[in-house]
Amino acid sequence: MAQDAKSSKLRRNRSTVTHKIGYALTHPARVVPYLRRAARDAWLRLKHPDHVGYYRAVMASDTRRNPEAAVGSQTHERWLALGQMQFDYLIEHGLRPEHRMLDIGCGNLRGGWRFIDYLDTGNYYGIDISPDILIAAKKTLVERDLQDKLPHLTLTGDLTLDFLPSRHFDIIHAHSVFSHSPLKVIEECLAHVGRVLTDTGYFDFTFDRTEGVEHQVLREDFYYRTETLLQLADKHGLHGRFMDDWENRPHGQSKIRVSRSPLPGPGREDEAQRQSLARGSAV
Ligand SMILES: C[S@@+](CC[C@H](N)C(=O)[O-])C[C@H]1O[C@@H](n2cnc3c(N)ncnc32)[C@H](O)[C@@H]1O
Repeated sequence: MAQDAKSSKLRRNRSTVTHKIGYALTHPARVVPYLRRAARDAWLRLKHPDHVGYYRAVMASDTRRNPEAAVGSQTHERWLALGQMQFDYLIEHGLRPEHRMLDIGCGNLRGGWRFIDYLDTGNYYGIDISPDILIAAKKTLVERDLQDKLPHLTLTGDLTLDFLPSRHFDIIHAHSVFSHSPLKVIEECLAHVGRVLTDTGYFDFTFDRTEGVEHQVLREDFYYRTETLLQLADKHGLHGRFMDDWENRPHGQSKIRVSRSPLPGPGREDEAQRQSLARGSAV
């Protein structure tokens, strides 16, 4: 039964009029907020034809109201839980204090503050397209008393990663970023991320998965098939795999891991990846 519900969710095309009418009938209270959001987004798209400019304006508007909601958490408890989920997952997958981490689309440090706290001083790099959310990130840093960890928080206009050194990062992470990105932005990232990864490092990203037609809603939420993203990684010389063990977490998005070296086979990945990261050798 639960499997049927999941499978139907994965086939849903939220951009169709039929879906929208059905949704409106079952969630009448959400109709007015949706229409307000659609009108605001249409105006912002008119002012900012490029996606990054548009999404930066969306973030500015959302962050003004509530930075935690702007990164997708409607309550502080959920904000804490989502950060903890990201942190626990990477710890289970071998993250160690001496690793250097790049957090793409770090937001207001929902996961970031935990990584900053855990990693050795100076080993956390967070980048984001939104100046407003980076100001909120600095507030989180102060609230958590983490100034001494000297994290790097940098505004970026693209994902070429050109200002970062080659073969530098052990772990690169993008949580709920590609779920808000057109394919062009994802491809830009995949085309360049290999350069800044160490030989044994990996890049994990979440995405909104569909098993039906790829679609987007309000240019805010994008739904991709797993094979589209794996093929894109392959096109840019990266090894990619779908992370089954992320599916058990109460998140709703899926996760792909890409790396410069081949990834270990299913079932052995956690231990092998941990050992590989510990040895600093490819698996
Ligand atoms: C849903 S929030 C998630 C934030 C953070 N990763 C977390 O889990 O709390 C998405 C973040 O990605 C940023 N973002 C969206 N597109 C981006 C891009 N192309 N490059 C860098 N950051 C981006 C947004 O500004 C926003 O802060």
